[in-house]
Amino acid sequence: MSLLVLGANSLIAQAAASHFAEAGHKIIFAGRIQDEPEKFAKDFSIRYNIECTSEIVDALDYSTHKKFAEDVISKDPELDYILIVLGYLGTQEKAQSNFDEAHRIIDTNYTGVVSVCELFAAEFETRKKGTIAAISSVAGDRGRQSNYMYGSAKGALSVYLQGLRNRLAKCGVNVLTIKPGFVNTPMTYGMPLPKPLVASPQKVGKDIYKAMIKGKSVVYTPFYWRWIMFIVKSIPEFIFKKLKL
Ligand SMILES: NC(=O)c1ccc[n+]([C@@H]2O[C@H](COP(=O)([O-])OP(=O)(O)OC[C@H]3O[C@@H](n4cnc5c(N)ncnc54)[C@H](OP(=O)(O)O)[C@@H]3O)[C@@H](O)[C@H]2O)c1
Repeated sequence: MSLLVLGANSLIAQAAASHFAEAGHKIIFAGRIQDEPEKFAKDFSIRYNIECTSEIVDALDYSTHKKFAEDVISKDPELDYILIVLGYLGTQEKAQSNFDEAHRIIDTNYTGVVSVCELFAAEFETRKKGTIAAISSVAGDRGRQSNYMYGSAKGALSVYLQGLRNRLAKCGVNVLTIKPGFVNTPMTYGMPLPKPLVASPQKVGKDIYKAMIKGKSVVYTPFYWRWIMFIVKSIPEFIFKKLKL
């Protein structure tokens, strides 16, 4: 059994991958910075005594995605699990006045992920097995003034994954939507977040592993975000628009 993880140097990716490694799965680390995925592959293969390889992929370089998918599939015909962790928070304020920033946020979190997913979806559909998991966000559950560029891309990704799950369910392929709340990673460093609600990448990685193995459809991580977002989504719009969120 093997796992392909895109966004190799995310702490969440490494935490989730460590559980697959402990279970003896082969791991393919993919990332966009030369040498980085290779570094993680070497480290994991020594630490867990498993087979690991590496690939280079840039979510925004769409023309390379077909070759990337073909390379991965030809090197590992037994690929079972794909975990897409890559994402870009960007700066909301900058994105409001600079469309390049908005474009990058939308394309990294949505268009690039869709491009890669469709290639592996077609392969898994033919094989009639496999799991595709991608990290969306609770930010995609309701638009807020503080991060609606990122939130809208993640919201679009959640709907995309919902549709893909609906398409692939009949041929035995599972699609998992992962919705983390606040996680202590470089993405959130320096942000004034409520400490009790900030989870470790290890906790989120473990939740992701369990949800992938169990064949879940949607996982909020930590679990209480399902209830927090239930409340947030229930606030009537006439009240919500007066809140500074
Ligand atoms: N941290 C949170 O509070 C939080 C909450 C909800 C959801 N999430 C989501 O969780 C996932 C992991 O985020 P993180 O918190 O671990 O942040 P992170 O450390 O910034 O990880 C983001 C990952 O995406 C990769 N990436 C960015 N642009 C890319 C591109 N064009 N092509 C390929 N890879 C690219 C980064 O690679 P480089 O290092 O090369 O840039 C990095 O590996 C993301 O999807 C994020 O949106 C995070």
